Amino acid sequence: MKGFIPLLFLLISVHSLTIIDSILATKCVYYMKQFDWGCGSTSNSAKYYSCRCHNVDWIGSITNCLESEGANDTSEYIDHAYRHIRGRCLGKGHIDWPVDVLKSYQQNATSYLQEPTFADKKITLSHPISVNSTGFEYTDRTFNHIYAQVIRSQAFSWGYIFFITFFISLATAFNFFRIFIIRYTNGKHINNPTSLMTKIRCHIVNSNLRHDSIITLFKGFRFQIPTRLDTLVIAFFGIYMVLATCAGISIELPNQYQNGHMWQLWDLLGYRTALGAFALIPPTFFFGIRNNPFINLTGSSISSFMFYHKWLAFGMSLQALIHSGVWTAYTIREGDYSSWAADAYWIWGVVGTTLCFLIIFSSMMWFRDLCYEFFLIIHKSFSIVFITAMWYHCNTLGWMGWIYSTIVIYVYDSVVRFIWILANGGAKPAKITKLNDELIRVLVECPNKSNDYWYAGAFAYIYFLNIRTRFYQSHPFSIMKSKRSRERNCYAFVFKTHKGITNKIMNELNRNFKVTGDRSKYINVFVEGPYGPYKPLVAHEQYVFIAGGVGFTPVYSQAVDIIERNNKNLKSHKKLIKFIWIVKNSEYYKFFKEDLHYLFENDVEIEIHITRNASNNIDDKTEEQEGNIVNNFSISSEENIELLQYKTSSDYYHKAIEHTSRPLISDIVQNVDVSQHSTMFIASGPSTLNDDVRAAVNHLTKGSRIRIDYQEDSFIF
Ligand SMILES: Cc1cc2nc3c(=O)[nH]c(=O)nc-3n(C[C@H](O)[C@H](O)[C@H](O)COP(=O)(O)OP(=O)(O)OC[C@H]3O[C@@H](n4cnc5c(N)ncnc54)[C@H](O)[C@@H]3O)c2cc1C
Ligand SMILES: *[C@@H]1O[C@H](CO)[C@@H](O)[C@H](O)[C@H]1NC(C)=O
Ligand SMILES: *[C@@H]1O[C@H](CO)[C@@H](O)[C@H](O)[C@H]1NC(C)=O
Ligand SMILES: *[C@@H]1O[C@H](CO)[C@@H](O)[C@H](O)[C@H]1NC(C)=O
Repeated sequence: MKGFIPLLFLLISVHSLTIIDSILATKCVYYMKQFDWGCGSTSNSAKYYSCRCHNVDWIGSITNCLESEGANDTSEYIDHAYRHIRGRCLGKGHIDWPVDVLKSYQQNATSYLQEPTFADKKITLSHPISVNSTGFEYTDRTFNHIYAQVIRSQAFSWGYIFFITFFISLATAFNFFRIFIIRYTNGKHINNPTSLMTKIRCHIVNSNLRHDSIITLFKGFRFQIPTRLDTLVIAFFGIYMVLATCAGISIELPNQYQNGHMWQLWDLLGYRTALGAFALIPPTFFFGIRNNPFINLTGSSISSFMFYHKWLAFGMSLQALIHSGVWTAYTIREGDYSSWAADAYWIWGVVGTTLCFLIIFSSMMWFRDLCYEFFLIIHKSFSIVFITAMWYHCNTLGWMGWIYSTIVIYVYDSVVRFIWILANGGAKPAKITKLNDELIRVLVECPNKSNDYWYAGAFAYIYFLNIRTRFYQSHPFSIMKSKRSRERNCYAFVFKTHKGITNKIMNELNRNFKVTGDRSKYINVFVEGPYGPYKPLVAHEQYVFIAGGVGFTPVYSQAVDIIERNNKNLKSHKKLIKFIWIVKNSEYYKFFKEDLHYLFENDVEIEIHITRNASNNIDDKTEEQEGNIVNNFSISSEENIELLQYKTSSDYYHKAIEHTSRPLISDIVQNVDVSQHSTMFIASGPSTLNDDVRAAVNHLTKGSRIRIDYQEDSFIF
């Protein structure tokens, strides 16, 4: 019974030993297997291995080899080799030779040892043999070569970490440099952009790979298109990955372990990809978490990091696939697949690779569109199982550092998320109001009596703590500072309903309305945040916000932020603000009237485009056919008249424009006066709107001698 537990432990671990676990033991095993031990073959497959393990002459020879060839090594190194032999005999031959027993066989064998001869390869041995140093040299060279290649693979795998560190440092340096310059020049530096910088911004930083940020294939399969800058970074990553997978693989023939050019190549590729995939696990996780500190350090967007997260995962999975393929092919060739495949580490490896591809498949945009909740469940649970699988795949092979750090990253994120919730005051009541059939407003009190708590452009994850509204899910919404008189210490979220949780909340509100006749309801919420890069808009002289529908919320906070700074500053540093809002109908104006009034009162020029009768499906062609309707605005409805009354109270001319079809974004952008002031355009709306703004702004930038920038404050609809 006493021996049982260590034995059990050994059984779990030994199965996973491979040749590089103890290079000394491997050399001795391969040296000895050339001789005739009465097993009928020199193969290393389970059947023959088992036969040798039961032969005391072989045991005596092997252990003697360990002692003589390890003479110059530490005793721990030799003991590790003994344990390796014990493990392999247990795993392949189901016979347990404890290390001290093996050592006593070694002692006994010394009195029977003989020099190996050529004849010993043909005639079955009946005594232990020593090691012939000339003969051993070949084995020695072979495995030293393999070992050196494994070490090289390890260096290349660290290369991934250096690559990522390099890019992050570069981006961080740029970001801090930018902030530093803005602070010390007060925005003056940006008035005379060089043409090179303008070109870089137009063609690389601001542009997408193509006009549309989302393409739809086969009716409904949506794919996301990255920005050119992100694409460039990933292209470099791809180049490094190809190098790190293929470079520096040297073949040494003849070779005792894998003879044949092709087989050696595959074998070394197997190690290379294994270590490469492992090194990519922690960065993949790091870029996927919410509390990724690099977002703020580099000033990049969440979507950039999600993009990198995805591509690192692709890279990792591809390498895992090659690794698995190589070893499967190897064992099938050796004719020993079933014996290998029974090993725990093998099974966990297969599980890991399979999970990688299941996770990637379920993360495709069209799959998320189809069933977001299912995607979330798969993504979370599978990635935990994946880490477990990798743990058991490697717990005896080494390289566990990668796994430990991944777990640390995961735990860190969970802890910080929890801290955010606590910092926001834990569970607290939120007033949830139905605005219309598709819009809901959530009002939450600030944890500390002032609503400066949130920075502009931030968002938070909300948990609606009610069974019916799936309390375990959290969803991101942009934070809107409330400037309404009765809500001075509150912030709001406004969201549009979709199929999932947002729809559940709408149902809940409808149910509540039927019972109580009240459009609002209090539900307890957790608020987790703020998230998103902190990028105050300070460098430009003019800010033009272009919002579409509910995209109003994030940019409204930005505008309020500028106004608040304007009000503190001297007159000379005042920023101009233009707010362009494109909405389906004037109902939107009604919902945000009080928020808009704050803008009116603070010298913001407002332009509202109402596309009342315009169907969303009208494409540009039909608009052209309808002639000049786009530019033919009429000002009619009540709200518009109300809007125009503000014209008298401020110096600015506000417009409410009603269209009978969708307005052309390029016209709207073109109408902005950018001849006098450096200008930043901020788009926030559905991806199609953002794409059009981006293209129009880029067009404007090309011909301008004044600095024009573009920024997106958006989420995917
Ligand atoms: C940074 C950020 C800020 C946002 N701010 C707002 C906002 O102010 N107002 C607003 O109306 N919407 C906002 N959204 C979008 C909003 O989070 C989703 O519309 C909402 O989560 C949909 O929930 P659902 O369960 O009803 O979605 P489903 O009907 O299940 O899915 C609809 C679509 O929403 C997306 N989605 C669902 N859940 C999430 C999630 N947890 N994270 C990211 N995307 C998700 C999916 O891509 C899916 O295609 C924001 C998103 C992000 C990433
Ligand atoms: C000692 O070694 C010889 C040769 O391998 C073997 O025949 C014999 O059984 C061993 N004796 C003991 C006590 O292990
Ligand atoms: C151990 O070191 C000695 C002296 O350097 C050397 O002659 C001998 O060959 C070495 N033995 C082995 C097994 O490497
Ligand atoms: C080793 O074996 C070779 C032949 O295989 C022989 O020529 C040589 O003398 C042997 N070396 C020693 C040290 O016995």
